Amino acid sequence: MNTLIKIQELIKDASPEEALALLATEFPGQVVFSTSLGYEDQVISHMIFSNAIPVKVFTLDTGRLFNETYSVLNSTLEKYKTSIQVMYPQTDLIEELVTKKGPISFYESPENRKECCNIRKVEPLKRALKGNAVWVTGIRAGQSGNRQDMPSVEWDEENQIIKYHPILNWSLQEIKSYISKYTIPYNTLHDKGFVSIGCAPCTRAIKPGEDFRAGRWWWETNDKKECGLHSS
Ligand code: ADX
Ligand code: SF4
Repeated sequence: MNTLIKIQELIKDASPEEALALLATEFPGQVVFSTSLGYEDQVISHMIFSNAIPVKVFTLDTGRLFNETYSVLNSTLEKYKTSIQVMYPQTDLIEELVTKKGPISFYESPENRKECCNIRKVEPLKRALKGNAVWVTGIRAGQSGNRQDMPSVEWDEENQIIKYHPILNWSLQEIKSYISKYTIPYNTLHDKGFVSIGCAPCTRAIKPGEDFRAGRWWWETNDKKECGLHSS
């Protein structure tokens, strides 16, 4: 993939802010950042908004987020006086799912859980990524075993897009220091033992010593706890 190599070369000595700006210049109007409004993503939002880097920002509202997550969305809009594209699931799919299977079908089987994630997250993600060249995420290597060997720039076969993870090698401590240094709004659930925050019914706080992702879909026993956003 020639473009991939070209991008790796383009940003190899750049800071995350510089790399985002370089990519935005290289692919005008085709660089998009997905924010879950968690710690990591707030760092990237700050880089984009405070430097007015022309990267589009969207969030996937699954309809099952924590109130605290909506508060961060609101305080972010207020702080940076900006807008964030909010993507929703398709109404007919959600209506059919909840009518047929009820509101908590995801606890019943991994298939049901994936069905819900597909409707509420994966399908809206695909719509948000369509027509773009680069997808920026807040993934960190320290978040899970299968993220440890990820390169910071990669090709996403599933979505046919280049993915860039600007803070891949940052530690959680570096994230926290950055948030505090620039007084960036953050999800207050992070102060209550929630490290990785997704949908309310599928996220719990972790105990000291537990794996970073132990609080996501905790009733499932497999070790690959991903919702399908980052399947490649
Ligand atoms: S997930 O696959 O388990 O849900 P995780 O919560 O670790 O993902 O977040 C990794 C990255 O995926 C985030 O930094 C963000 O770029 C993207 N992401 C996750 N959830 C959302 C969401 N609700 N809206 C937009 N982007 C998201
Ligand atoms: Fe549905 Fe839970 Fe997936 Fe959210 S995390 S989309 S509620 S199964």
